Amino acid sequence: MLAVDGIGFTIAEGETYGLLGPNGAGKTTTISMIVGILECDSGEVTIDGRAHSTKSVATKSLIGFVPQDLALYPDLTARENLRFFGRLYGLRGSALKAKVDEVLEVVGLTDRAAEPSGKFSGGMMRRLNIGVGLLNRPRVLILDEPTAGVDPQSRNAILESVGRLADEGVAVLFTTHYMEEAERLCDRVGIVDRGKLVAEGTRRELVALVEEQGRIVLRVDGDPASAVRALRTLPKIQQVSTGDGAVELLVADAGERLPSILQTTAQAGLTVRSVEVREPDLESVFLHLTGRALRD
Ligand SMILES: Nc1ncnc2c1ncn2[C@@H]1O[C@H](COP(=O)(O)OP(=O)(O)O)[C@@H](O)[C@H]1O
Ligand SMILES: [Mg+2]
Repeated sequence: MLAVDGIGFTIAEGETYGLLGPNGAGKTTTISMIVGILECDSGEVTIDGRAHSTKSVATKSLIGFVPQDLALYPDLTARENLRFFGRLYGLRGSALKAKVDEVLEVVGLTDRAAEPSGKFSGGMMRRLNIGVGLLNRPRVLILDEPTAGVDPQSRNAILESVGRLADEGVAVLFTTHYMEEAERLCDRVGIVDRGKLVAEGTRRELVALVEEQGRIVLRVDGDPASAVRALRTLPKIQQVSTGDGAVELLVADAGERLPSILQTTAQAGLTVRSVEVREPDLESVFLHLTGRALRD
């Protein structure tokens, strides 16, 4: 099986592009090839019209990369970590100090700068890790799941700082399996599933793919799979998927179809604990394109 199969996209200056897909879709593999950690069998990366490879110092210096796993020295303070990595980028003296101060400000850690990073919360460590990726004034910032496992406060701080960088003209590429995040932050979204880019566009363009289909989520007691067959036979049901105590349906005229959906579910022996009817969103698009829920 190919982990990544023919994924291609372009990101403009100041644009935020999100790769959205479930775990195992191929997001990290794609990013690793762009950054040059993994070699690709075929394909190419260009930055500013120039071919990029691991050997290309000129284009490498344009990229800021924030990996999914933290790369920090826990015994060093936030400031010391940034100074250390800043020196690796060739910064010295007052230029280094100014850059470190600026980055601390951007990631909101100025008042915690003197504390060892090992004592930080997961979210603060993640913010510091992003700070490292900003030291070389990148034109392209690449972040792999920057908010996974992060507390809501840090999550907001991260999303806000990423938004500000895009406003300053940085091209941002990030991966996420959170639909809300892609919807909130991205100018354009590429939906990735099983190593393929299955759709790409603005939120509006993508949601237009599902037209009038609403998404219904039933939380149930019992095995959700037992209702699937019967639900699929109902009219106007486009997709049915199950997982984690829930049945998820993509339905034309969702409100109107709800009573018969509830009845069919009850007849299959399931007790419905909650019902949610949602307007079309990126989650519906994913379900429509793949037949599966984003978070199975
Ligand atoms: N080092 C590896 N060796 C073999 N398979 C891998 C390796 N890394 C990832 N994979 C597989 O490649 C696919 C894509 O993984 P990944 O890019 O990490 O997905 P994502 O970041 O979207 O969660 C998965 O099926 C995963 O199991
Ligand atoms: Mg990943």
